[in-house]
Amino acid sequence: MIGCAALRPVTVAGMSDVSASNTSTNKWIALTEQNPDHSSWYVERFRSMAAAGDDLAGEARFVDAMVPRGARVLDAGCGPGRVGAQLAAAGHHVVGVDIDPVLIDAAEHDHPGPTWLVGDLAELDLPARGIADGFDVVVCAGNVLTFLDPSTRRPVLARLAAHLREGGRLVAGFGAGRDYSFEEFFDDVQSAGLAPDVLLAGWDLRPFVADSGFLVAVLSIAAPTG
Ligand SMILES: C[S@@+](CC[C@H](N)C(=O)[O-])C[C@H]1O[C@@H](n2cnc3c(N)ncnc32)[C@H](O)[C@@H]1O
Repeated sequence: MIGCAALRPVTVAGMSDVSASNTSTNKWIALTEQNPDHSSWYVERFRSMAAAGDDLAGEARFVDAMVPRGARVLDAGCGPGRVGAQLAAAGHHVVGVDIDPVLIDAAEHDHPGPTWLVGDLAELDLPARGIADGFDVVVCAGNVLTFLDPSTRRPVLARLAAHLREGGRLVAGFGAGRDYSFEEFFDDVQSAGLAPDVLLAGWDLRPFVADSGFLVAVLSIAAPTG
């Protein structure tokens, strides 16, 4: 019953009660409600793949190429720390935030070093939690955006944008067919004050085209208009 912990109200300084603010309209939380073992299953799945020598570092290699050495990286919706841990190993200063306490427990256990925090991206306020500096890059990998309560997509993008330092960039990747069309995403990006720098069809740098089944979007703060 490990996954039940994911549904307990979690109140942290600077964050509201994450379970109450999302209930089951957040698809990840809905999965943990339907299957109390979902979170621990997910943790073990990635532990098994790592033990088997699978390449789990594609997103981290991409992000590493975007930033200077020793950069500040926010792994938004970090899960058990797959991406952030690789970036920390490459010498970056990593903060990971995830709504699921079971996954954050696993990140702390498997990948000590980065700062792993339980929190809802829709209400992200890291300065209120003692992390004042902005980030060179915010990475949102593994379809995180498609799990959000749809009503929080724009607030999440705006909160992530607010955590960028000047010149910083947000990179998000997710697949088609997950009830969040790329067109809706581009509208939300604009609404959140962001603009696409680069659109790709995968973390392997293939170009994004009309029928791409995956999108990796590198976003910057939009230039002021008028
Ligand atoms: C498929 S997992 C991806 C985990 C990790 N990014 C990776 O690629 O290995 C999706 C993650 O999104 C997180 N998530 C969903 N909604 C969230 C929210 N509102 N705030 C923070 N994390 C959220 C889930 O808890 C889950 O860890």
